[in-house]
Amino acid sequence: MKITVVGTGYVGLVSGTCFADTGNEVTCVDIDQNKIESLKNGKIPIYEPGLDLLFERNTKQGRLTFTTSLEDGIKDAEVIFLALPTPPGENGSADLKYILGVAEDLSKMITDYKVIVDKSTVPVGTSEKVHEVLASNLDESLFDVVSNPEFLREGVAVNDFLKPDRVVIGTSSAKAQKVMERLYAPFLRTGNPIYFMDERSAEMTKYAANSYLATRISFMNEIANLCEEVGADVNSVRRGMGSDSRIGKRFLFPGVGFGGSCFPKDVLALSKTASDHKYDFKILNAVLDVNAIQRERIADKICNHFPDLKGKTIGLWGLAFKPNTDDIREAPALYTIDKLLEKGAKLKAFDPEAMENIAKIYGDKIELVSDQYEAILDVDALAIMTEWSVFRTPSFKTMKKVMRKPVIFDGRNLYELDAMKEEGFHYESIGRSI
Ligand code: UGA
Repeated sequence: MKITVVGTGYVGLVSGTCFADTGNEVTCVDIDQNKIESLKNGKIPIYEPGLDLLFERNTKQGRLTFTTSLEDGIKDAEVIFLALPTPPGENGSADLKYILGVAEDLSKMITDYKVIVDKSTVPVGTSEKVHEVLASNLDESLFDVVSNPEFLREGVAVNDFLKPDRVVIGTSSAKAQKVMERLYAPFLRTGNPIYFMDERSAEMTKYAANSYLATRISFMNEIANLCEEVGADVNSVRRGMGSDSRIGKRFLFPGVGFGGSCFPKDVLALSKTASDHKYDFKILNAVLDVNAIQRERIADKICNHFPDLKGKTIGLWGLAFKPNTDDIREAPALYTIDKLLEKGAKLKAFDPEAMENIAKIYGDKIELVSDQYEAILDVDALAIMTEWSVFRTPSFKTMKKVMRKPVIFDGRNLYELDAMKEEGFHYESIGRSI
C-alpha cells in the first residue's frame, strides 16, 4: 500500500517506519526543511531504542522516503496519516491549527479517493472538523476521515507499534474500514483485536486511556504519601494490591509524578472538554492537582532536610521524564531543578540521554557531567529523578567515597531500605519510612 505520513515527530516517524517495515511504501512529509534533510541523510532526530535499525533497513530498501512537499508526498497515496502536534491552546484545550491547516491544504490537492487518518491525540469531534474542512473544497466521494489514536509509549514505541495490545479505528465508512483492516493486519497476527467504532468514541478512547493511567499514578502517589504518614511501605502495599487481577500489577509505581508530552496535556485537555460540556470532571482535576504537588516532592524533602540550601551542592541522577528517552517535556526533574535553584543550591547532573536537551534550557545554571559518579563528587546529597537501569546497581562504596555526605533522596524507589541502612546512607524515598 502507498502511505503518506504528515508530521515527522515521535508518532509520525515511528508509525511511518513501522508501516514501511511491513512492506508498505511510505512517504513522510514535514515542513521543517532541516529535519527532512537530516532524515534523508539517515539521521533520526529522536532517541528511540530500536528505531534506527528499522529506519536504516527501510530507507536503504527505498520504502521509506522524505519530502517537504505535501503535494509530492500524497501522490498515489491510498492513506494519509496526520501525525501533527496538538499543543495545549487557550485554557488547556488542544490547539488544532496544524491539523486543520494541513486538512485545508489537502482539500486543494486531492484528486482521487484517499483515507485521511487522524493519528494525533485530538479532542472529541475533531474528525468531524477535519471532514468539514476537506469537504469545503472536495467532493465527499473522494475521501473518508478516520480516527486512529496511537497508544505507543516513548522508549518502547517500536515494540508497541509492531505488537499493539489493540488497534482502535473510528470510522463510519465501510470502505475506509476495509483499507484500515488491510493496513493493520500484519500487526495483529498474534490475535490482538482491532476495534471499529464511531469517530467520537475512538477519540474519547485515547483520552480515557491516558487519563485513567494518569489517575492510577496520582492515586498511588497519594497512597505513598499516606504510607509515609502511617508508617507503611508502599512497595508492599503495591504488590498486595496489584496481585488482584482486577487491579493488575502494572502502572502502580509511585514516584515524582507523571511527566512527558502526553499525560499532563491529555488530562488537562479532557478536563477542558468536560467543562466545555458543563461537566465537572472532579477526578481529573484532582489527578492534576496531586501531580503538581508530587513533582515537587523530592525538592520538598531536600528542603526539609537542609533548612538552608545556600552553599549546598545537590547531585541529580536522571533528567528525562522516564528512562530510555531523551525527552524532558514536563519532566519532574525540571520542577526539582527550578525549586532547588530558587533556594540557592548548586546543582550537578547526569542523564544518559537527556543532557543536550537540559543544556538548552538551563545553560550553565547547572553543571552537566558525563558520568554518574562525577555528578555526585563533593555533593551534600543525591536526588534520583529517573529510573535509568544504570542507576539501579551502583557501587555504594564509590558513592560514599565521592559524596561529601551519604545522603540520597530517591524519587523512584530504586534501593532496598535494609541495604541502605547497612551501607550507612541517610535514604529518603517515596512512600517508605526513612
Ligand atoms: C503514554 C501512554 O502510556 C501511551 O500509551 C500513550 O500512547 C502515550 O502516553 C501518548 O499519548 O502518546 P508515555 O508518555 O511515553 O506514554 O510514557 P509512560 O510510560 O506512560 O509514562 C508516563 C509518565 O508516568 C512518566 O513520567 C512515568 O515516570 C510515569 N509513571 C508511569 C509513574 O510515575 N508510575 C508508573 O507506574 C508508570
